[in-house]
Amino acid sequence: MKWLFLIYSFVYCLCKIEGAYLEGNKSLSNWDVFSRIPGKIKDGSNADVADDHYHLYLEDIELMDSLGVNSYRFSISWSRVLPRGRFGEINPVGIQFYNKLIDALLLKGITPFVTLNHYDIPQELEDRYGAWLNKQIQEDFGYFAEVCFKAFGDRVKYWTTFNEPNVMVNGGYRTGIYPPNHCSYDNCTAGDSAIEPYIAAHNVILSHATAADIYRRKYQVNQGGSIGIVLCSYWYEPYDDVPADQWAAQRALAFDLAWFLDPIIYGEYPPEMREILGLRLPTFSPEEKKKLESKLDFIGVNHYSTLYAKDCMFSPCNLGTSNGDLLAVLTGLRGGLPIGSPTAMPTFYVVPQGMEKMVMYFKERYNNTPMFITENGYAQGSSDKIPMKDLLNDTGRVDYLRSYLDSLSRAMRKGADVRGYFVWSLIDNFEWLYGYTLRFGLYYVDYSTLKRTPKLSAQWYQQFLHSPKTLKKQMPSESKLQHLPS
Ligand code: NOJ
Repeated sequence: MKWLFLIYSFVYCLCKIEGAYLEGNKSLSNWDVFSRIPGKIKDGSNADVADDHYHLYLEDIELMDSLGVNSYRFSISWSRVLPRGRFGEINPVGIQFYNKLIDALLLKGITPFVTLNHYDIPQELEDRYGAWLNKQIQEDFGYFAEVCFKAFGDRVKYWTTFNEPNVMVNGGYRTGIYPPNHCSYDNCTAGDSAIEPYIAAHNVILSHATAADIYRRKYQVNQGGSIGIVLCSYWYEPYDDVPADQWAAQRALAFDLAWFLDPIIYGEYPPEMREILGLRLPTFSPEEKKKLESKLDFIGVNHYSTLYAKDCMFSPCNLGTSNGDLLAVLTGLRGGLPIGSPTAMPTFYVVPQGMEKMVMYFKERYNNTPMFITENGYAQGSSDKIPMKDLLNDTGRVDYLRSYLDSLSRAMRKGADVRGYFVWSLIDNFEWLYGYTLRFGLYYVDYSTLKRTPKLSAQWYQQFLHSPKTLKKQMPSESKLQHLPS
């Protein structure tokens, strides 16, 4: 089969690769502050310098160009563009940095694919009013989005409002392992895991709606772009082939994905959640429903792995701290055996068929809304003990990418409207709680010299992109991304 218009690309969150954490008037983000709290990041590191992409972006664009990718997915740092959110001025140095980046990409024929929020916010919003727990953030996010549409929208035609808000909200307010470190357990000093995740998610959903509404009303017609949202999408298999576990797997998908997508696409939280959470789930007022009509043009799917879901609704089990409301245990192990080959990321197993199933789930549930696979990649462990030559010989990553792309092609053959695919990621970078102990890059980064060196996977991907079987096309025209029916 020839690939249809896949967009070959790489993704970054700029706070993970950008560095220059206080340069050019940037303010502290919540992650800058959080990573400084002892014990929060595995290797005690932070993203102050990271890959120094802020200074080395031209070199990185050369790498992309030499590989032959035609799009680059990156995030804009809110604290670089609006260091004090709406409480201060737009930062011209921040705007200039992204202008230079966008222009340099376009010069090479590489389409910018921009995320507005990838977990990080200016710390001031947290300190002043509690960020995602306060509805004020909806307006503030809308303001930030508009600043970006105005400054960059003449050249940026692909926008996503949020990257993985499901992860951000669960980490920040259910388990407390991400900022602002809220939960009901011993690792947090504030929070309520039974309530706050749902309030924060509600504000994220309405922030998406605010930004999408501004884009539709004021920019989309003239700028001709499209707007979507990206979710972290595990596939779930029933632990045992029994109805209770099948239902648990369905619930797990709803608690992850439909939590955000059902309101945006259908105007209501998913029935699977309402049944369990009842009044703990906020409701949408008529005005909010009106805003939600802005919907989205495409869904971004970050897919890495598959887990088992084991029911705890009908047979009690130890729920732990992360999946309490779901009433299911999510695990990669059954009878001591992993669901697929393990990788260095504890919950990421290699289960290629999960890609096809995941994409087909989105196709069925959301009426074949256009999709982009916005992330897919393989984690290598890294420490002083692992020689660089072993990290460069990343056969595990090559096998992973090949098999996941095959699986994706099966879903596309079955009619799934997939418009593009992004590998995570071009270069090794700061991996949140894992610091620099995990490497996802096609290029190895020596963090003492910042030198980038191609791994085997970079060569493989380059050949893949140039193979005659790979039909390269331009980015799909925005007009083909239709708005969803209600
Ligand atoms: C999802 C996130 O978007 C990204 O920030 C992270 O590094 C990768 N997955 C790998 O965990």
